[in-house]
Amino acid sequence: MATKLVVQGGAPLRGDVAVSAAKNAALPALCAALLTAEPVVLENVPALADVDTTRSLLEQLGGVVSADADGSTRVHVAQVTSNEAPYELVSTMRASVLVLGPLLARTGLAKVALPGGCAIGVRPIDQHLKGFQKLGAEVFIRNGYVEARASRLKGARITTDLVTVTGTENLMMAAALAEGTTVIENAAREPEVTDLARLLSAMGARIEGAGTERLEIEGVSELGGARHRVIPDRIEAGTLLVAAAITGGDVTVVGAEPRHMSAMLSKLEECGAVVTVSGDRIRCQGPARPRATDIITSPFPGFPTDMQAQFMAMLGLADGISKITETIFENRFMHAAELSRMGARIDAEGSIAMVRGVRYYQGAPVMATDLRASASLVLAGLAARGTTEISRVYHLDRGYERLEVKLRSLGANIDRVK
Ligand code: EPZ
Repeated sequence: MATKLVVQGGAPLRGDVAVSAAKNAALPALCAALLTAEPVVLENVPALADVDTTRSLLEQLGGVVSADADGSTRVHVAQVTSNEAPYELVSTMRASVLVLGPLLARTGLAKVALPGGCAIGVRPIDQHLKGFQKLGAEVFIRNGYVEARASRLKGARITTDLVTVTGTENLMMAAALAEGTTVIENAAREPEVTDLARLLSAMGARIEGAGTERLEIEGVSELGGARHRVIPDRIEAGTLLVAAAITGGDVTVVGAEPRHMSAMLSKLEECGAVVTVSGDRIRCQGPARPRATDIITSPFPGFPTDMQAQFMAMLGLADGISKITETIFENRFMHAAELSRMGARIDAEGSIAMVRGVRYYQGAPVMATDLRASASLVLAGLAARGTTEISRVYHLDRGYERLEVKLRSLGANIDRVK
């Protein structure tokens, strides 16, 4: 039964709200359990649709995923009983490709459906595959599936042509069980990559340079189990802070990691918000009206592409013209057309969107096209005059844990209706 979100705009949001664990750290952490026959316990896995898909995938491969009494998630792949990640699952979630490296490293064989394109771009995995070939694997593409084989992977020097987050994660997991040392140059430095390296090290891997663009992984013959707490979700935290800024409210997110959010916090300040950081608490006091500013998305520590849509929603109400340059994905302005239905004035062409701020948005029926686009429509609805109805919210549920419940706790007038 389809559901939609109905938002009555106008209420400034106020109060404290806790941040969940990061989707983009939880997914690779769950897949890393494939690397060992011992249990991996993750303390704070968020309740998300993408987590459910990953659970089904691990079970399909022979894993047992259970909840411990303390709410932790226990993943135990005592034996890999299938080497195939089917199209039905991979087509619903691209991150399924993260089983390729662990399966190949642990069993010598991985057969994973090629993830097709998605709303925000073509998103090839050529860098992943090139890296596995460098590690000595034979890689074939057959009938829409990648098949990779190797009796044992061998350490190698890999330089990716561009910075890829899941590419770095996949290769790092594979190299952890390879014979000899692997060096990954131009590696992604995202906090989620560093968090995965932390888990792998707890499992017995030897990794140097996590968080830098040069990773050195000395392979070991076997990995053990581990207990791990997943990092907070910097994108969810950022989304909640923009909710404060766009409604002229005063919100404190609790349990965040400010060091992972510097680029977006300074952009919030450029927009006129007052941002106060103390420990794991980040307070945002929104301006009466946002100031225009320019944004260029780039790999960490630059401004995250996963916050671009949310900031566009806010800059659509700014006092002036903002220029947004999207450098990571070639088709990540789908939300612009929906925001325009609410009265925004946005000219998006290629990788650049010119946003001319308007005084206010009007509530309207709008449609989510991808995860972060759906968040931007919720934010616009919170600031709009009248009622906004957002359909296809299944996109939102992929990456936000009970967002409307958290927003309601801050005073938002938002409901999920069938
Ligand atoms: C991760 O995707 C995140 N997903 C994305 O978050 C995020 O937008 C992206 O990194 C960038 O930060 C997860 O971690 C599960 P990339 P990923 O490989 O790894 C091109 C969200 O909203 N590329 O870093 O798939 C690619 O097409 C999601 O939570 C190749 O050309 O992104 C893109 O243009 C959306 N060949 C660029 O590189 C490759 O082999 C960066 O992609 C790999 C990537």
